[in-house]
Amino acid sequence: MSSFYLVLEKMYTSRYTEGSIKMRSEYYNERYRPQYHFSPEYGWMNDPNGLVYYDGEYHLFYQFYPLGIVHGPMHWGHAVSTDLLRWNHLPIAMYPDDVGFMFSGCVVVDEHNTSGFQHGKEKTLVAVFTQENNGRQVQSIAYSNDRGRTWEKYSGNPVLERPEFRDFRDPKVFWHSETEKWIMVLAVKDRVHFYNSPNLKEWEFTGEFGSSDGSHDGVWECPDLFEMMVDGDKNNKKWVLTVSINGKLSGMQYFIGKFDGNTFVNENPSEEVRWIDSGKDFYAAVSWSDIPAADGRRLWIGWMNCWPYAEKIPAGKWRGNMSIVRELVLSKIDGFGLKLVQKPVSELESIRKGEIISVRDVWYSALDNAISGLMLDTYEILLEIDMSKSNSDQLGFKLFRDEDGYVDVGVDVSKGKVFIDRRHIACHHKMEGFAERHEAGLIRKDGIIKLHIYVDRASLEMFVNEGENVFTELIFSESDSRSIEFYCTEGDAYIKSLTIYSLDSIWKCPEKA
Ligand code: FRU
Repeated sequence: MSSFYLVLEKMYTSRYTEGSIKMRSEYYNERYRPQYHFSPEYGWMNDPNGLVYYDGEYHLFYQFYPLGIVHGPMHWGHAVSTDLLRWNHLPIAMYPDDVGFMFSGCVVVDEHNTSGFQHGKEKTLVAVFTQENNGRQVQSIAYSNDRGRTWEKYSGNPVLERPEFRDFRDPKVFWHSETEKWIMVLAVKDRVHFYNSPNLKEWEFTGEFGSSDGSHDGVWECPDLFEMMVDGDKNNKKWVLTVSINGKLSGMQYFIGKFDGNTFVNENPSEEVRWIDSGKDFYAAVSWSDIPAADGRRLWIGWMNCWPYAEKIPAGKWRGNMSIVRELVLSKIDGFGLKLVQKPVSELESIRKGEIISVRDVWYSALDNAISGLMLDTYEILLEIDMSKSNSDQLGFKLFRDEDGYVDVGVDVSKGKVFIDRRHIACHHKMEGFAERHEAGLIRKDGIIKLHIYVDRASLEMFVNEGENVFTELIFSESDSRSIEFYCTEGDAYIKSLTIYSLDSIWKCPEKA
């Protein structure tokens, strides 16, 4: 390792000790500081990396540049949690070296010691990641025999290089029991490649997918591939391939199909584009590896940001945060077919601090504006409207409301759409790409419509009808006093239920805990 990186490593290591939480009341309390989302204490963060569960801990590594708040020579930051919610910062896991900067990748538990790296009781965690050096991208590995606390880069790095490809990155690896091989899915410009390996060190190309499927509005990045049951039926399984797109547009799409250990076959028309999120700020999401079978969930987290403005959003001493952790489900939806559905993980219920309001079976008009004017910092709204009884034109919430504006979140009943409109916040007009309205068609237009909304200091996540549609949006309102308004235009709406909880911060000073 060059001396420059050795000096850096020393500097950071002396600054951080495991579990250190500063005893300051301003800790994680800045205006735009997410209260129940993960963000680094300082520095720049982008993609989640190396999501793995091992021995009671969920690991979250992430693209990290500690010396600034823009993308720089990337490192792997590191945090762990026992509940997917409260994160404990650990020292930087991996530094750039002579092979290159530390780009995105994954971590797996090498259960059967196929790599031969295990030399004690603990199973070995193996990281597989891209290293970037002056535009050249190669895949490398590193291993840890102490529960992810320290990492050794493999002396034979890189383990996979194909100089003919410039965009050649973001490996996601899993154990494929049918072929008894490790499988790597890798983003290669406008498609994904598949490689397999018996030992995580030697990789062989087996196939590719995507050059003429789905959206190509940008380069493909951060793929993931996993098998899912359809509506929990173990006799009906499909493979899901997810991929992020970075270009004119920044977003995530998915494909449903078959995977035989060598390559993926799309079951839907190749020109069909299936977006994962209807908002603008959900990117580079990948799923946790090695979740115990007894849990069985497919869990993932995304970077809550969007490359076109990622380096320009308001920032303090840090820039970037993650979404909440979500559970993925593959569901058959009447009138649509199979859909990748996202739900907030149930662990989030543990930060509900107080029930601010809870009403059932009432008309909007009878509520008498009981909600409007409520001032809450971070909160969760659950609304169920019975459309068969309602004749309203549009209903929803004006959130982040102050003298300068609001964010409009709701259902356009006449058009059968759900939307989030960021155009009414004054300072959004100063930021390119922010003053926009995002909408999605409602799949179920009559019957019950459910909105489940998470509001943090600078974001909104809305799950429509149990996650059939999800909106992930950053919101920057300049005022500190922000109220809620519940509205319904024309006619009336029948509220099956409406509950609002205020939410606790996950970043506690020890003396307040
Ligand atoms: C996605 C991405 C990856 C790359 C990483 C670099 O956001 O561009 O393709 O590995 O970020 O930080």
